[in-house]
Amino acid sequence: LFAAVEMAPRDPILGLNEQFNADPNPDKVNLGVGVYYDDNGKLPLLKCVTQAEKQLVEAAKPRGYLPIDGIAAYDKAVQGLVFGAESQAVQSGRVATVQALGGTGGLKIGADFLKKLTPQAKVLISDPSWENHRALFENAGFQVGTYPYYDAGRRGIDFDAMLAALRAAEPGTIVVLHACCHNPTGYDLTPAQWEQVIEAIGSRGLVPFLDMAYQGFGEGIAEDGAVIGQFLKAGLPMFVSTSFSKSFSLYGERVGALSVVCSSKEEADRVLSQLKRVIRTNYSNPPTHGAQVVAAVLTTPALRQTWEDELATMRVRIKQMRELLVQKLRAAGVTQDMSFITQQKGIFSYSGLTKEQMQRLRSEFGVYGVDSGRICVAALNTRNIDYVARAIAKVL
Ligand code: LMR
Repeated sequence: LFAAVEMAPRDPILGLNEQFNADPNPDKVNLGVGVYYDDNGKLPLLKCVTQAEKQLVEAAKPRGYLPIDGIAAYDKAVQGLVFGAESQAVQSGRVATVQALGGTGGLKIGADFLKKLTPQAKVLISDPSWENHRALFENAGFQVGTYPYYDAGRRGIDFDAMLAALRAAEPGTIVVLHACCHNPTGYDLTPAQWEQVIEAIGSRGLVPFLDMAYQGFGEGIAEDGAVIGQFLKAGLPMFVSTSFSKSFSLYGERVGALSVVCSSKEEADRVLSQLKRVIRTNYSNPPTHGAQVVAAVLTTPALRQTWEDELATMRVRIKQMRELLVQKLRAAGVTQDMSFITQQKGIFSYSGLTKEQMQRLRSEFGVYGVDSGRICVAALNTRNIDYVARAIAKVL
């Protein structure tokens, strides 16, 4: 039966973890996967999470099946965070939200639902995008193309080309957009550019699918989520996947969501019923713990404040690492202008290093980044940054 099974290639991001773990180099640094580490190089366990867990343990309940669409209080809290509890869309009940297995799970539920709804539609992702976007939508049966995004020459977004591609896309095309902290480049659209994108999407009849995995890591929770309000104002249908992996440091709990903004409550009820079918036939219903924690934190004012403070601490530390990396690279003898690192947002820097340079970083120095040149600046700290800067200087 399995004689013809081919060896699948290593995952371009998570596969690096396997390689990293097997590397005996004592100086090795993992800047591959998008994970935030504190200045001691440790994965943080947030205070808001431990406090919420304590409360949950004290009032421990038996674990029955959750509803197919997850914990109602969690779905409601997600809607409040993403769209604003007072927004007309939420108040009128025209947003269908389901708990999902992380942001990836939210994308997958949306992709499977869309494949049934509009089987002929094409999908466009940014060039470049998170590696898994293409794989995930192709696996759901779609043909996946790209719209221009990053312009290496000017180290920024080729906005005119992006807009032209959207204006030329076939009506019904699903456009995957990074709501904030673009992965992998770290370059985000300005609110004025978003307005133009939204106008193009609306007038062309495209289907926006916003991936929001890093809310709070750019400029702040409200600032990073502002684009959602712009879309709501335009009155377009849209998909939003949410992840709490990074913002709550709950990677292994797989806590995320998918929200679909519809034109009425009645429409949202029908959409929700279909999302539930997708979930039921994939994994039946979601797990309890992580969503309970996130719901408790988001809905308890004191815990919510603690979370916002902790997220701000992570955001500030990342910005400090960006500044420091630029300084250290200069000190290590890099003469080219690397200040673009401080202009990028979120946890990644698109370093501009070539695949060969990234491979040298790995094999000669044990510094692991993605072949595309993406490095996770949230894994830098005051102890490893000198070593990393010197290694980058050597391969440059
Ligand atoms: C990343 O891009 O590194 C993260 O989103 C983790 C992942 O699942 O790839």
